[in-house]
Amino acid sequence: MRVAATPETVKKFIALGAVVSVEAGAGLAAAISDEAYREAGAQVCTAAQAIKGADIVLGVQAPDLALLKDANPGAWVAALFDPFVQKDQVNAYAKAGLEALSMEFMPRITRAQSMDVLSSQSNLAGYKAVIAAADQYGRAFPMMMTAAGTVQAARVFVMGVGVAGLQAIATARRLGAQVSATDVRSATKEQIQSLGAKPIFVENVAGIEGEGSGGYATEMSPEYQAAQAELVSSHIAKQDIVITTALIPGRKAPRLVSDAQIASMKPGSVLFDLAVAQGGNVEGSVADQVIEKHGVFIMGYSNTPAHLAADTSALFARNHYNFLSAFWDKEQGRPVLDEEIGNAVRLTQGGKIVNERLAG
Ligand code: NAI
Repeated sequence: MRVAATPETVKKFIALGAVVSVEAGAGLAAAISDEAYREAGAQVCTAAQAIKGADIVLGVQAPDLALLKDANPGAWVAALFDPFVQKDQVNAYAKAGLEALSMEFMPRITRAQSMDVLSSQSNLAGYKAVIAAADQYGRAFPMMMTAAGTVQAARVFVMGVGVAGLQAIATARRLGAQVSATDVRSATKEQIQSLGAKPIFVENVAGIEGEGSGGYATEMSPEYQAAQAELVSSHIAKQDIVITTALIPGRKAPRLVSDAQIASMKPGSVLFDLAVAQGGNVEGSVADQVIEKHGVFIMGYSNTPAHLAADTSALFARNHYNFLSAFWDKEQGRPVLDEEIGNAVRLTQGGKIVNERLAG
């Protein structure tokens, strides 16, 4: 379990003039004691006490509405809302008169990079996926020459080269694997090469450019999907480890690996599906389980960042601080958001849903 503030960010918020309360035990899974929060200047109390009279509530996941009943009218709640899926919760926040600020809707613009939780969390998730797959794999990653003979380097294939995929490539390379990668956005080709991995790309097919707004992927044409499946089929049969990271905002994750493709892989190979909680890139993947099919292991966590809670919490907490401090208004003693970022992240205000991505 992650936590939305660390002693470092508590100190910084206090330096801005805020009064900070933290729920007792909130940091334990991230290796932060209540004492450390107290030393940083926070009051440590129950969640209900911490929220009572609060103007701003920081969370990793958005708290249950029942907990927020004593927050100040119009209080801000900055957290992950999963707004396309958790529509009822967003509605309930609106009805309660709260101002929900969805950290996953942070716009992908240069000045918001340090506030972007999707990036900070995906980065470490990409790393963890490789480490978990390496642990499941019954062989080594690097080539090793020993007196008893040579151990071959593992072949790792990364599907989806966003923030998580780039980190997965870098991690697998550091462990000594032979790495290849693919994406629908052709801009990633150079990034793959610059990390010392081999790009595997569909060429000469209609609808080839998968880049949509904000650097995110779009859904691909049926022609593209067929060509991609064929290319992947021939490549995947030779791989030992496959890490899938493909997401499309607001939609179910695209299916990238079929059961037939899994059957073509060597026994003992490992697929780690980072998109398992969004519907899965790999056929048959089940969150938080290792499934053995055709002698191949399929795995994925429902919440990968929580598996490195100390580091992901530190980054999440800094994202929150970077966000709110950038807009801190000294006279009012609280942040005042500008239009570009405010309109992007704000889901509810004045009893209504106000975000244009949720309209209709
Ligand atoms: P994501 O988590 O939405 O998706 C992961 C990757 O899967 C993406 O690279 C996407 O193109 C790929 N993908 C989707 N469908 C696929 C398919 N059918 N087959 C293969 N791959 C598929 O992406 P993420 O990590 O959020 O990054 C998207 C882009 O945004 C990147 O270029 C990243 O550098 C950029 N970015 C910019 C930021 C900023 O300027 N503030 C902050 C974070 C990311």
